Amino acid sequence: MERDYQIVSEAEMARQREFAEAVRVLPHRPQTYFIVTYGCQMNAHDSEKLAGMLEEMGMVPAETREEADFVIFNTCCVRDNAERRALGNITWLREIRKTRPELMIAVCGCMIQEPGMAEKILKQYKFVNLAFGTANLYKFPEMMYEALESGRNTVEVDTHDVIPEGLPVQRVRKEAAYLTVMYGCDNFCSYCIVPYVRGRERSREPSAVLKEAEGLMKDGTKEIMLLGQNVNSYGKGLGNGYSFAKLLKELDRMGVPRIRFMTSHPKDLSDELIEAMQGSRHILPQFHLPVQSGSDRILEKMNRRYTRDIYMERVRKLREAVPGIGLSTDIIVGFPGETEEDFRDTMELVREVGFDSAFTFIYSPRVGTRAASMDGQIAADVSTRRIEELIALQEEIQQQTLKRFLGQEEEILVEGFSKRSDDAVSGKGRHAVSVTMDGGPGDIGEIVKCRITGLKHNTLMGERV
Ligand code: 5AD
Ligand code: SF4
Repeated sequence: MERDYQIVSEAEMARQREFAEAVRVLPHRPQTYFIVTYGCQMNAHDSEKLAGMLEEMGMVPAETREEADFVIFNTCCVRDNAERRALGNITWLREIRKTRPELMIAVCGCMIQEPGMAEKILKQYKFVNLAFGTANLYKFPEMMYEALESGRNTVEVDTHDVIPEGLPVQRVRKEAAYLTVMYGCDNFCSYCIVPYVRGRERSREPSAVLKEAEGLMKDGTKEIMLLGQNVNSYGKGLGNGYSFAKLLKELDRMGVPRIRFMTSHPKDLSDELIEAMQGSRHILPQFHLPVQSGSDRILEKMNRRYTRDIYMERVRKLREAVPGIGLSTDIIVGFPGETEEDFRDTMELVREVGFDSAFTFIYSPRVGTRAASMDGQIAADVSTRRIEELIALQEEIQQQTLKRFLGQEEEILVEGFSKRSDDAVSGKGRHAVSVTMDGGPGDIGEIVKCRITGLKHNTLMGERV
């Protein structure tokens, strides 16, 4: 199969580095920056790339957004509330600028990629200096240079599907790193705007992924989170028979201490992948597998292309291959046409699977998606009641599922001090459950062994061994 997307040429990437250098020597450029990030891990990682480019332009992070010379909003549009929050915060910053006229503001990310949004920003938010979509991320230095040199507001929204290699990255955490394996999504679930704003599915070359992983290992990274909207279809379109399972096996052999990945689509979760997990030393025993609904009728309307039975069969197979595996999921309530019976099917599935955690959402209509124009939109009070019931059930179930860790040993990758106490640290165990244990500053960024002694709310309590 021919590849229908392009890797940005090295010459173009070099040209962008020249723009970064040109910005660096501009006398009137901003000195400090602050990035406000909304949405998923993909966006968080895009912000790390923005930070990498900003540092190449000579800027340093500011402590707060009020103090920064340059504030960037990296937006999300997957649900209406993410969009509203971003627009609210952007408007609020206009007030700050009244006292600091030199403040520069940029808006980027998925929201800008929505049809009509760039024009809206230009008209209604005239104080925004720079707006660019996800496809233009790598051109940030050039846009920055133009905005500073011309003094004019700059907007760029392309829709072509590209892969930029070799962008500088300023990682938030050194010990646990994001690594993108594929971009975009071709699934067109009927509620979801992602395929429209992130473009067609495209995989990075295995050699590029492995090279980045090697670099991370050399830098002492302990955990790599492989990212993609649908990592299970990694390799499609590369034309070399490569699969996600194969990539995982290579990373496992390379000896990356901990490997995680998200997000997976149940329809593409192959036996080959389950086998790769079964035989692995380093792939963590956890799986984020969004189910969205427990009703076959709703799954069909969502265009998910699996049934409840297929989902349950995948869960069984995962549990057989990796006993004790930590399962998490995403669920939407109030999808158009969802009856009380459909919702009961979802509740029943949640009970049957016993997830360690679940992200629950009220369906939010997105302009341009198929579901937005479906009959049977659900009233807000009904959706609210359903999500409350679902959250209560999941909390009850979590108390049960997490009990399996009591008395067990776990290895924790310590993230930082616990919010509850100064002589306690917290992080994630191999099953992706949060653990709080005794510890000090020397533990941060390290993998520490502990025994699980208790359970408070949704957090496990541990004592080091
Ligand atoms: N409304 C509500 N939730 C949504 N998600 C995606 N699109 C929508 C929408 N329009 C949820 C799905 C997905 C997660 C990232 O966000 O559950 O898995
Ligand atoms: Fe959206 Fe479905 Fe693609 Fe996930 S798989 S990003 S829910 S369209």
